[in-house]
Amino acid sequence: MGKKIKKILSDVEITGIADKGKAVGRHEGKVIFVEGAVPGDIVDVLALRKKKGVMQGEVDYLVQPSKDRVEPVCQHFGVCGGCKWQHLDYAAQLHHKRLRVEDVLTRIGKIPLPEIPAALGADETEYYRNKMEFSFSNKKWMTQEEIDSGKVFRHRNAVGFHRPGAFDKIVDIEQCHLQADPSNAIRNTIRAFAIKKRYTFFDIKEQQGWLRQLFVRTASTGEVMVIMSFFYEDEKNRVILMDFIKECFSQITSLMYFINDKKNDSIFDLTPHLYHGQDFIYEQLGHVKFKVGPKSFFQTNTAQALKLYNIVVDFADLKGDENVYDLYTGLGSIACFIANKCKQVTGIEENEAAVADAGENAKLNELENVTFYAGDVKDVLNEKFAAKHGKPDLVITDPPRAGMHQHVVETLLALSAPKIVYVSCNPATQARDLQLLGEQYTVEKIQPVDMFPHTHHIENIILLKKNQ
Ligand SMILES: C[S@@+](CC[C@H](N)C(=O)[O-])C[C@H]1O[C@@H](n2cnc3c(N)ncnc32)[C@H](O)[C@@H]1O
Repeated sequence: MGKKIKKILSDVEITGIADKGKAVGRHEGKVIFVEGAVPGDIVDVLALRKKKGVMQGEVDYLVQPSKDRVEPVCQHFGVCGGCKWQHLDYAAQLHHKRLRVEDVLTRIGKIPLPEIPAALGADETEYYRNKMEFSFSNKKWMTQEEIDSGKVFRHRNAVGFHRPGAFDKIVDIEQCHLQADPSNAIRNTIRAFAIKKRYTFFDIKEQQGWLRQLFVRTASTGEVMVIMSFFYEDEKNRVILMDFIKECFSQITSLMYFINDKKNDSIFDLTPHLYHGQDFIYEQLGHVKFKVGPKSFFQTNTAQALKLYNIVVDFADLKGDENVYDLYTGLGSIACFIANKCKQVTGIEENEAAVADAGENAKLNELENVTFYAGDVKDVLNEKFAAKHGKPDLVITDPPRAGMHQHVVETLLALSAPKIVYVSCNPATQARDLQLLGEQYTVEKIQPVDMFPHTHHIENIILLKKNQ
């Protein structure tokens, strides 16, 4: 939490954006992170605490707004933890994302870089996600207006997102601008029905209450997957609720549920139960169709994923006879996307359900030159694997936020593929890995892609070429 302080610092000029998307300024030469500000603002700051020697505060008074400041569209802005950059003009968001990539690659990567182009922006900056997870809670986050109203509330049940810094409180969401309908309608209808029926909402601290989570997936094909997560089985009410959802939303092609009696919300070790329709939905990404199961990772911004994959294809510059490895393949999306441009692709993924989907996706797209392996890349990828599958001409790697394990980087150096295309959702860990890969590789091309407008997140694609 850091050391508590409480004082006003006047006329702080916000000069940039730091790690995790926080606005940053200086007061008397000292750095301060300011919640609620955007670069170019001049603000009076309520300094609240010192964390790791850096002052942290929030806007107390907007002295002079930045030219890049815009009106946020969402009624929940500032309360909900998502879309924190909604008050920053989209062109400025892209500018700062590019700067962030340049900063970490230079500071952490410490290897020579080509010119970094502008971040590739999204055509749609609202309703761009195909998947959302909402949490149920009996501890609704109370807004200042609700507290000031003096009203007595009959209950404090809510469905929405965790309030940042208060893990047991949920911001009750009326309209979220991240996922197209019927997402909002599904969440709001279930909440109203559950309150009317007096179903209990989850209490994360006390570990009690029936309704726990709601997952909604809306595919570009028009198919909709809805998954309910219950803390315990209550067959009678579950059937009532699931029938109600099914009847209200004829668009749902896959209606499923989990029983999750664990302490954590992770669904990867849970058994999905099918209630209605099929236990997957279809997604279409350019020329490839994907079967997406309840536990599979699929890029959450479909329109931007297509742009991202096209850049991978462009960077890969395949001639048709290459042997390609696709590390961290998920449900085989990049592997299937590029399969018609090379001789063979071998994908590795630790999530077994996703690997099963990947196999189905290969069949669905009539691809005979793709093979998938389940397991941790660090254990599966080695010299023996390369002996079996042939040395790669190209490695595509798309690890999670933590980046690649050091053993994986060492194996890549040993395998010595002529080209590596590194897709990353965390340029800081990508930069760390690049520093090691820089021993043998040169960064030829870079392209940041904005998959998540109004957040600080940025995807970055890098083409590495083996030094001669
Ligand atoms: C960022 S996603 C990329 C998925 C895929 N390339 C795509 O574009 O949809 C990362 C994937 O890596 C998988 N993963 C995470 N850690 C892993 C590991 N150590 N070994 C293998 N797969 C892993 C996750 O399950 C996830 O599917």
